[in-house]
Amino acid sequence: MNLSMKNFITFRDLVYDRCGMRFEAKKIYFVKKRLASRMEALDLEDVEEYLRFLKFRDPKRDEFQDLLNLLTTNETYMFREFEQLAVFAEECLDEVCKRKAQAGDNRVRIWCAGCSTGEEAYTLAIILMEMLEPFADWNPEIIATDIDTKVLAKARKADYSPRSVKDVPDEYLDEYFLTSDDGYQLVRPVKNLITFKHLNLMDNGQLSSAGQFDFIFCRNVLIYFDDASRKEVVGHYYEHLIQGGFLFLGHSESVGRISTAFTLRKMGGMIVYQKG
Ligand SMILES: C[S@@+](CC[C@H](N)C(=O)[O-])C[C@H]1O[C@@H](n2cnc3c(N)ncnc32)[C@H](O)[C@@H]1O
Repeated sequence: MNLSMKNFITFRDLVYDRCGMRFEAKKIYFVKKRLASRMEALDLEDVEEYLRFLKFRDPKRDEFQDLLNLLTTNETYMFREFEQLAVFAEECLDEVCKRKAQAGDNRVRIWCAGCSTGEEAYTLAIILMEMLEPFADWNPEIIATDIDTKVLAKARKADYSPRSVKDVPDEYLDEYFLTSDDGYQLVRPVKNLITFKHLNLMDNGQLSSAGQFDFIFCRNVLIYFDDASRKEVVGHYYEHLIQGGFLFLGHSESVGRISTAFTLRKMGGMIVYQKG
């Protein structure tokens, strides 16, 4: 299969317009391999014919979804970026819960955006089970979303390999996982805290039904976006956070350049973003 730079740019712009991910020219071989795989599945040989298929013969975007599932980067594991999670668990959660308790509100809502195969959402669920005191008095909920349907199917199964749980503290492994020959399975009470949903962060219509959250985690997702789409997504996060709520981004990501709306707070040596 031959992919000219002109056709690469047309594909790249289509993916960018629909979901905010930006592929640089150096990614041409990565993209070419994935296009070739989908074209083989459809028995198509001409790249331009595949492009026309995506644009005009894929009204429900099923084919686009299959292509997207190959293009996303889904690297993740439990308790990733441990120090930041410690700040969430020990400082931010405490601050928000104290305020909520005073207001007589027992709900704690977290949005885990770009959750991939679920490790981050289950990590947050374990932290809530450990930190909310007494747990029975609280009504916690985690909405975990991703654009990739394959990773969501895996997340719902909650079966993990030793690699995924390598950074889980031993006492949590004992308490929150069942072990089998194949690996590790989360216990039911942890699973029950999470709802996994298909959601494109660039789709305003889908986002409007998400509601308000106390915390939004969007770690290692915006690195695949350009500044314009980052700015748009961070703007949505601001709208979906309650006053005093926190946004957590990955280590290499910064909101400063794209939004001055958040207050930057230094907590436990980390920068966290707070609304208001
Ligand atoms: C590298 S994973 C990050 C997983 C997890 N947040 C972590 O930090 O370990 C990035 C995820 O973002 C998702 N993603 C990329 N673009 C997206 C979009 N427009 N809407 C929703 N999810 C998206 C990908 O499908 C992928 O699963």
